[in-house]
Amino acid sequence: MWSTNREVAAGDVVIIWQTRELIQPLLITPGKDFNSRFGHYKHTDLVGLPYGSKVGSRNGNGFIHILRPTPELWTMALPHRTQILYLADIAFITSWLDIRRGSRVIEAGTGSGSFSHSVARTIGSTGHLYSYEFHEARADKAREEFTRHGMGDIVTLTHRNVCKDGFTVDNSVDSVFLDLPAPWDAVEHAKKALRKDCPTRICCFSPCMEQVLRTVSALNEAGFTDITMYETLLRPHEVQQLPSPLPLSQVVGKLKKMEEKREEKRLRQIANSSKRKREDDPSATDSDKKARTDEPSAPQGKEEMKRQINLPDPATTEIDTSSSTQVTTQAKVNLSKASPEVRGHTSYLTFARLVPMLKQATEGVKENPVVSD
Ligand SMILES: C[S@@+](CC[C@H](N)C(=O)[O-])C[C@H]1O[C@@H](n2cnc3c(N)ncnc32)[C@H](O)[C@@H]1O
Repeated sequence: MWSTNREVAAGDVVIIWQTRELIQPLLITPGKDFNSRFGHYKHTDLVGLPYGSKVGSRNGNGFIHILRPTPELWTMALPHRTQILYLADIAFITSWLDIRRGSRVIEAGTGSGSFSHSVARTIGSTGHLYSYEFHEARADKAREEFTRHGMGDIVTLTHRNVCKDGFTVDNSVDSVFLDLPAPWDAVEHAKKALRKDCPTRICCFSPCMEQVLRTVSALNEAGFTDITMYETLLRPHEVQQLPSPLPLSQVVGKLKKMEEKREEKRLRQIANSSKRKREDDPSATDSDKKARTDEPSAPQGKEEMKRQINLPDPATTEIDTSSSTQVTTQAKVNLSKASPEVRGHTSYLTFARLVPMLKQATEGVKENPVVSD
């Protein structure tokens, strides 16, 4: 699939990465220009550059990165002709359907080919993808892309209505993936196409619960088992690195200062309130007033305050900070906050297995008989 050369060549499909939101494919055609808000480029400027290069524009308006396509990048960049499958769903479906190197898989409909590219890479040249699309122009476009991307031998794309006419293979594939408005109409056809010499799997991708219910009924009626439905959601986490904490000696010093200020304030309040009482009491004799004046009042000096709050002097207190400083300078505090918003619903994924009966199994692929226990 795609070019495996180190450098970009004329005729290659490359991915132009401009920003996270602006990623697009480009067929390198000498003589053509590429223009975007990130500048002006000639395709010939890109020929011969190693994949992954950062390229400055001719008019100094910015730069782009030229990347080698992968199915993941293709899904992010492809021209949408329909709704498409995204990476979270693709990964989950591929895993649940147990699609692997050498697998034989059916998908319908092809749509924009997002899922097809990923399956083609997974199954490789020893597997096969039978892809069906009833919209003729869409089928032609997808076929053209599959050929250009070097997947022509791995994918057979057929223009047909699978709900009405079924699939082109019988008793042959390991798994079926249906991304159709009415998958229930294709369930019996899928059953026919699945191989009968071993357990096989199906997945139906539907945006609404009503569709899921109809699909589940059809799967039950057709004898599928282990019917389960999943929804793949994404919950982004914001991870921040906090500044390293202060060394312990500094923290202790700060705490002491705070404590001193608090104590100073408290003593000031006591002194003020005693003074007010003396002045407000008309019955007090001169000697009373004198006695009260002799009551302890706010300490004047810093030394007196320290004595009262009994804090050690940071200048004279020995604090072994060697180990704590080491920890704090080395420690990096990572804070992860889950976003309250959960994104990603595109559809519900209804999965099921088809486990062949002994009779069906022995009628299946003869060279690989199923032994029942
Ligand atoms: C949502 S798109 C599939 C997107 C595809 N999974 C992807 O990742 O790009 C559904 C496609 O199914 C096709 N389709 C709908 N009903 C069909 C049928 N009965 N037989 C074949 N294709 C059908 C539509 O034309 C459409 O292109």
